[in-house]
Amino acid sequence: MEETIGVVGAGTMGNGIAQVCARAGYRVVMRDVEDEFLRRGLSSIDRSLQRDVDKQRLTGEAKREIVSRVSATTEMEGLREADFVVEAVNENFQIKAEIFRALDALTRPEAILASNTSSISITKLAAQTRRPGKVIGMHFMNPVPVMKLVEIIRGIATSDETYERTRSLTEKLDKVPLECNDSPGFVSNRVLMPMINEAIYALYESVAPRESIDGIMKLGMNHPMGPLTLADFIGLDVCLDILNVLHTELGDPKYRPCPLLKRYVDAGWLGRKTGRGFYEYER
Ligand code: 3HC
Repeated sequence: MEETIGVVGAGTMGNGIAQVCARAGYRVVMRDVEDEFLRRGLSSIDRSLQRDVDKQRLTGEAKREIVSRVSATTEMEGLREADFVVEAVNENFQIKAEIFRALDALTRPEAILASNTSSISITKLAAQTRRPGKVIGMHFMNPVPVMKLVEIIRGIATSDETYERTRSLTEKLDKVPLECNDSPGFVSNRVLMPMINEAIYALYESVAPRESIDGIMKLGMNHPMGPLTLADFIGLDVCLDILNVLHTELGDPKYRPCPLLKRYVDAGWLGRKTGRGFYEYER
């Protein structure tokens, strides 16, 4: 059974995944390409756990133990002993494909290789390896420590055993696994992104100001965040990438990204992470 979890990528999703795995008692090796990315990832884990210490839901001692279970490295080699690896790097097929090939060469043949991709085909990633039966999608939601769902995506070759081990790990992380097949955007982003895109079109066509669009969806539909705020939270570049995948792969014009979204991404207005998106943020 799984003891050591490897996480590739120390960004928002990667460090969130590392945190929930360490909190569930697993040893975690988090890998990224630069020390600075690892430092930021580790400090994000620290801040997130500190919220629970401040609310007296976690003792300082328990927090220290969780943090001590996470080691950080820039070397792929550090993942050699992992029983289960979750890849959480940028949504770029070439980068992910290279990582899957390297993980396949490095890890034990029984190790499961999961991707936190939000829209790239699991079947295609699996084909990069000599163990397609052991490749699966494990799509966490942001913020990982808070959100209950993990969308589990089976590629065409994913074995039942891989699915069962992944489902069981997800439950040990205190998350709810929900299964779907390998189709562009899976279920989450196939439904979410057209809604966000439509909200951006509503702004683009001056149907209402940003606050009204968000307020209507928040108060009228009981969404925790309005769609424009949520887009800023996810990252406008990520939203555009996913819409492009839906548009290209499904070929239906209904997924056409709004020109305003493209313009914002061109301007480097990527949402919260750059201090400006549909709203302005202090950094
Ligand atoms: N780490 C740990 N805890 C966190 C956290 C973090 N990064 N962010 C928020 N929290 C906790 C807070 O401590 C608080 O805990 P408590 O209620 O138990 O005291 C709780 O979450 C609520 O936080 P806040 O009071 O600060 O703020 P909100 O009530 O506005 O909640 C939110 C923040 C949880 C982010 C909420 O606004 C929300 O659920 N938004 C929607 C998020 C969403 O839709 N995510 C999915 C995005 S799509 C995706 O990820 C897929 C990808 O492929 C695009």
